[in-house]
Amino acid sequence: MQIIENHFDCYQEQPVQQIRLINDHHVSVSFLTLGAVWYEFLVPSTTGHHNLLLNFPHSADYLTNPFYVGMAIGRTAGRLANGQFESDGQSFTLPTNENQHTLHGGPHGFNQFIWSYTTKQEQDSVSVTFERLISHLEDGYPGNLSVKITYCLDNNNQVTLSFAGVSDAQTLFNPTSHAYFNLSDSNQILDQTLQIHAQEFLELDAQKIPTGQFNNVLATPFDFTHPQQLGSAITALKNTPEKGIDDLFHVKPQEDYEIAILRDPKTKRKIRICSNRNGLVVFTANSFTNQLPFKRGNGQPHMGIALEPQTLPKSPDYQEIQLAANISQQYCIRYQYSAE
Ligand code: GLA
Repeated sequence: MQIIENHFDCYQEQPVQQIRLINDHHVSVSFLTLGAVWYEFLVPSTTGHHNLLLNFPHSADYLTNPFYVGMAIGRTAGRLANGQFESDGQSFTLPTNENQHTLHGGPHGFNQFIWSYTTKQEQDSVSVTFERLISHLEDGYPGNLSVKITYCLDNNNQVTLSFAGVSDAQTLFNPTSHAYFNLSDSNQILDQTLQIHAQEFLELDAQKIPTGQFNNVLATPFDFTHPQQLGSAITALKNTPEKGIDDLFHVKPQEDYEIAILRDPKTKRKIRICSNRNGLVVFTANSFTNQLPFKRGNGQPHMGIALEPQTLPKSPDYQEIQLAANISQQYCIRYQYSAE
């Protein structure tokens, strides 16, 4: 197992580092200090290596579009209606960045920072931990929050992400990763199948804010209880404003059994996702445009799929995603690669 650190480029005159972790099966993953981006998930292929993730050539490409490609998301994933919430009896109004709402932590979220990091090599795994102390109200949220984001690669081809947070005041904490997967050699995900162990999904209003109501997936395009081709779900949604999937599925939190499986029938590449969260947001890149300069080619709708485990914030006071003062919280997500 190996760890390699490199200068990647500069963003706003600050150096961005790339950290690569390699296991004994020639699988490697790399990350950037900007936004704690998950940059590559390289697996052996007949032509050398295939990157299972979408990525851009330059750091500057990451913050010029609204898609959060590969980035770490926090303090809160998803949308906080009107940027408002209550915590410990006090009302807070966050800076907004999507209409009047706060999306993915807002304009000063985890994805905006250049993180410091440490690496660790153990007998059967290699890891990098990105760290930052976010000051009280620096990003609009209460509490000095100490965050550690660890990405660990092991010899079972598993990438385990853990998000640890501790704050000196009650705050919100619902981080995730916004990696976009595309397991195939083509630039669309339509032939890949997705299975999600979810019987229900959250109803959303016209601005994609959850109403709090759960709907049954049966007899809807959101029925992924058995593997469903993504193309068939996306076709069934073609007359909706979203023209694809951008939805929150209710799953059973468990670390050792998967909540979802993405598979490419042609190459037989497969990703199994485990997580200790009760939600999985699925976004099929419906609004990607050809202005996005991805390394594998210009952007297009349905070029990748973001599979973002997180906690479902379904009550108006966001009880589910409150982090109590001085109590550390750790969330885990595991993406395991295999090819049968
Ligand atoms: C999530 C959201 C989408 C979109 C993407 C980022 O997946 O659910 O609506 O904002 O992030 O582009």
